[in-house]
Amino acid sequence: MQYSPEQINVLRETCVVARGALDAVVRAARVGVTTEELDKICHAYITAHGGYPSPLNYYNFPKSCCTSVNEVICHGIPDARPLQDGDVLNVDVTAYLRGYHGDLNETVCVGNCDEKSKKLLMTAYKCLFRAIEGVKPGARYRDIGEEVTRVAHRRDASVVKSYCGHGIGTLFHCAPNVPHYAKNKAVGAMKTGHVFTIEPMINAGDWKDATWPDGWTAVTKDGSRSAQYEHTMVVTDDGVDVLTARNEKSPRVFPWTDPDHLSTEP
Ligand code: MF3
Ligand code: CO
Ligand code: CO
Repeated sequence: MQYSPEQINVLRETCVVARGALDAVVRAARVGVTTEELDKICHAYITAHGGYPSPLNYYNFPKSCCTSVNEVICHGIPDARPLQDGDVLNVDVTAYLRGYHGDLNETVCVGNCDEKSKKLLMTAYKCLFRAIEGVKPGARYRDIGEEVTRVAHRRDASVVKSYCGHGIGTLFHCAPNVPHYAKNKAVGAMKTGHVFTIEPMINAGDWKDATWPDGWTAVTKDGSRSAQYEHTMVVTDDGVDVLTARNEKSPRVFPWTDPDHLSTEP
């Protein structure tokens, strides 16, 4: 599906609301707060802006966002557990507004987390941004996984295989499928107007995942921590436009360092 510039302008507004919701949740995430409280903030923000939280009742998902703590890779269900000092928390927000879905996520430290966790977060962030650098007309979807894997392995981390980036727009999940692992068989090349997400899930230990009996919560098999960052983007004539990009008001991703320092490393 190739969207027109007019359609992209509407989608951009949706993505700005999704970004605002994620930023509101991240600002509220601190020691003692439950993920259920964070879920309420997400729901209130999106509905106050005239949208609907896409996850709510999506294949019976019970909440308005996903909150994935520590060894949870993705699709964690907000619950009554208070966040603890040193947790790593991923918040994944998708908003539906004026006919389009916008999807993004970030992982943050709650209080002070250990150096290994900080490195994991920065690795996942770098994986996403290195992948985005390769987005342009003619690039192959299957090559994204090569770049993500190169970055992850160089930094002693692994890449989850069971969950992928995806096309998005009038549908929450659609073609193309965007695997983050190497030697994948994703089909197709990028064209101007293609809209999709990249959302690598990066583990401190082994890449293997398991799913809880709730049917949603994906965890690392070895109990190691996992981190993820996600953007919704559109392919443009000369590269890419990240529709869910951060803005001047967005809370800092790595309060202990400047994310720009990552771009100066190999
Ligand atoms: N936002 C997730 C993604 O990045 C999907 C969540 S589906 C849900 O694709 F039902 F778990 F919310
Ligand atoms: Co997504
Ligand atoms: Co998402």
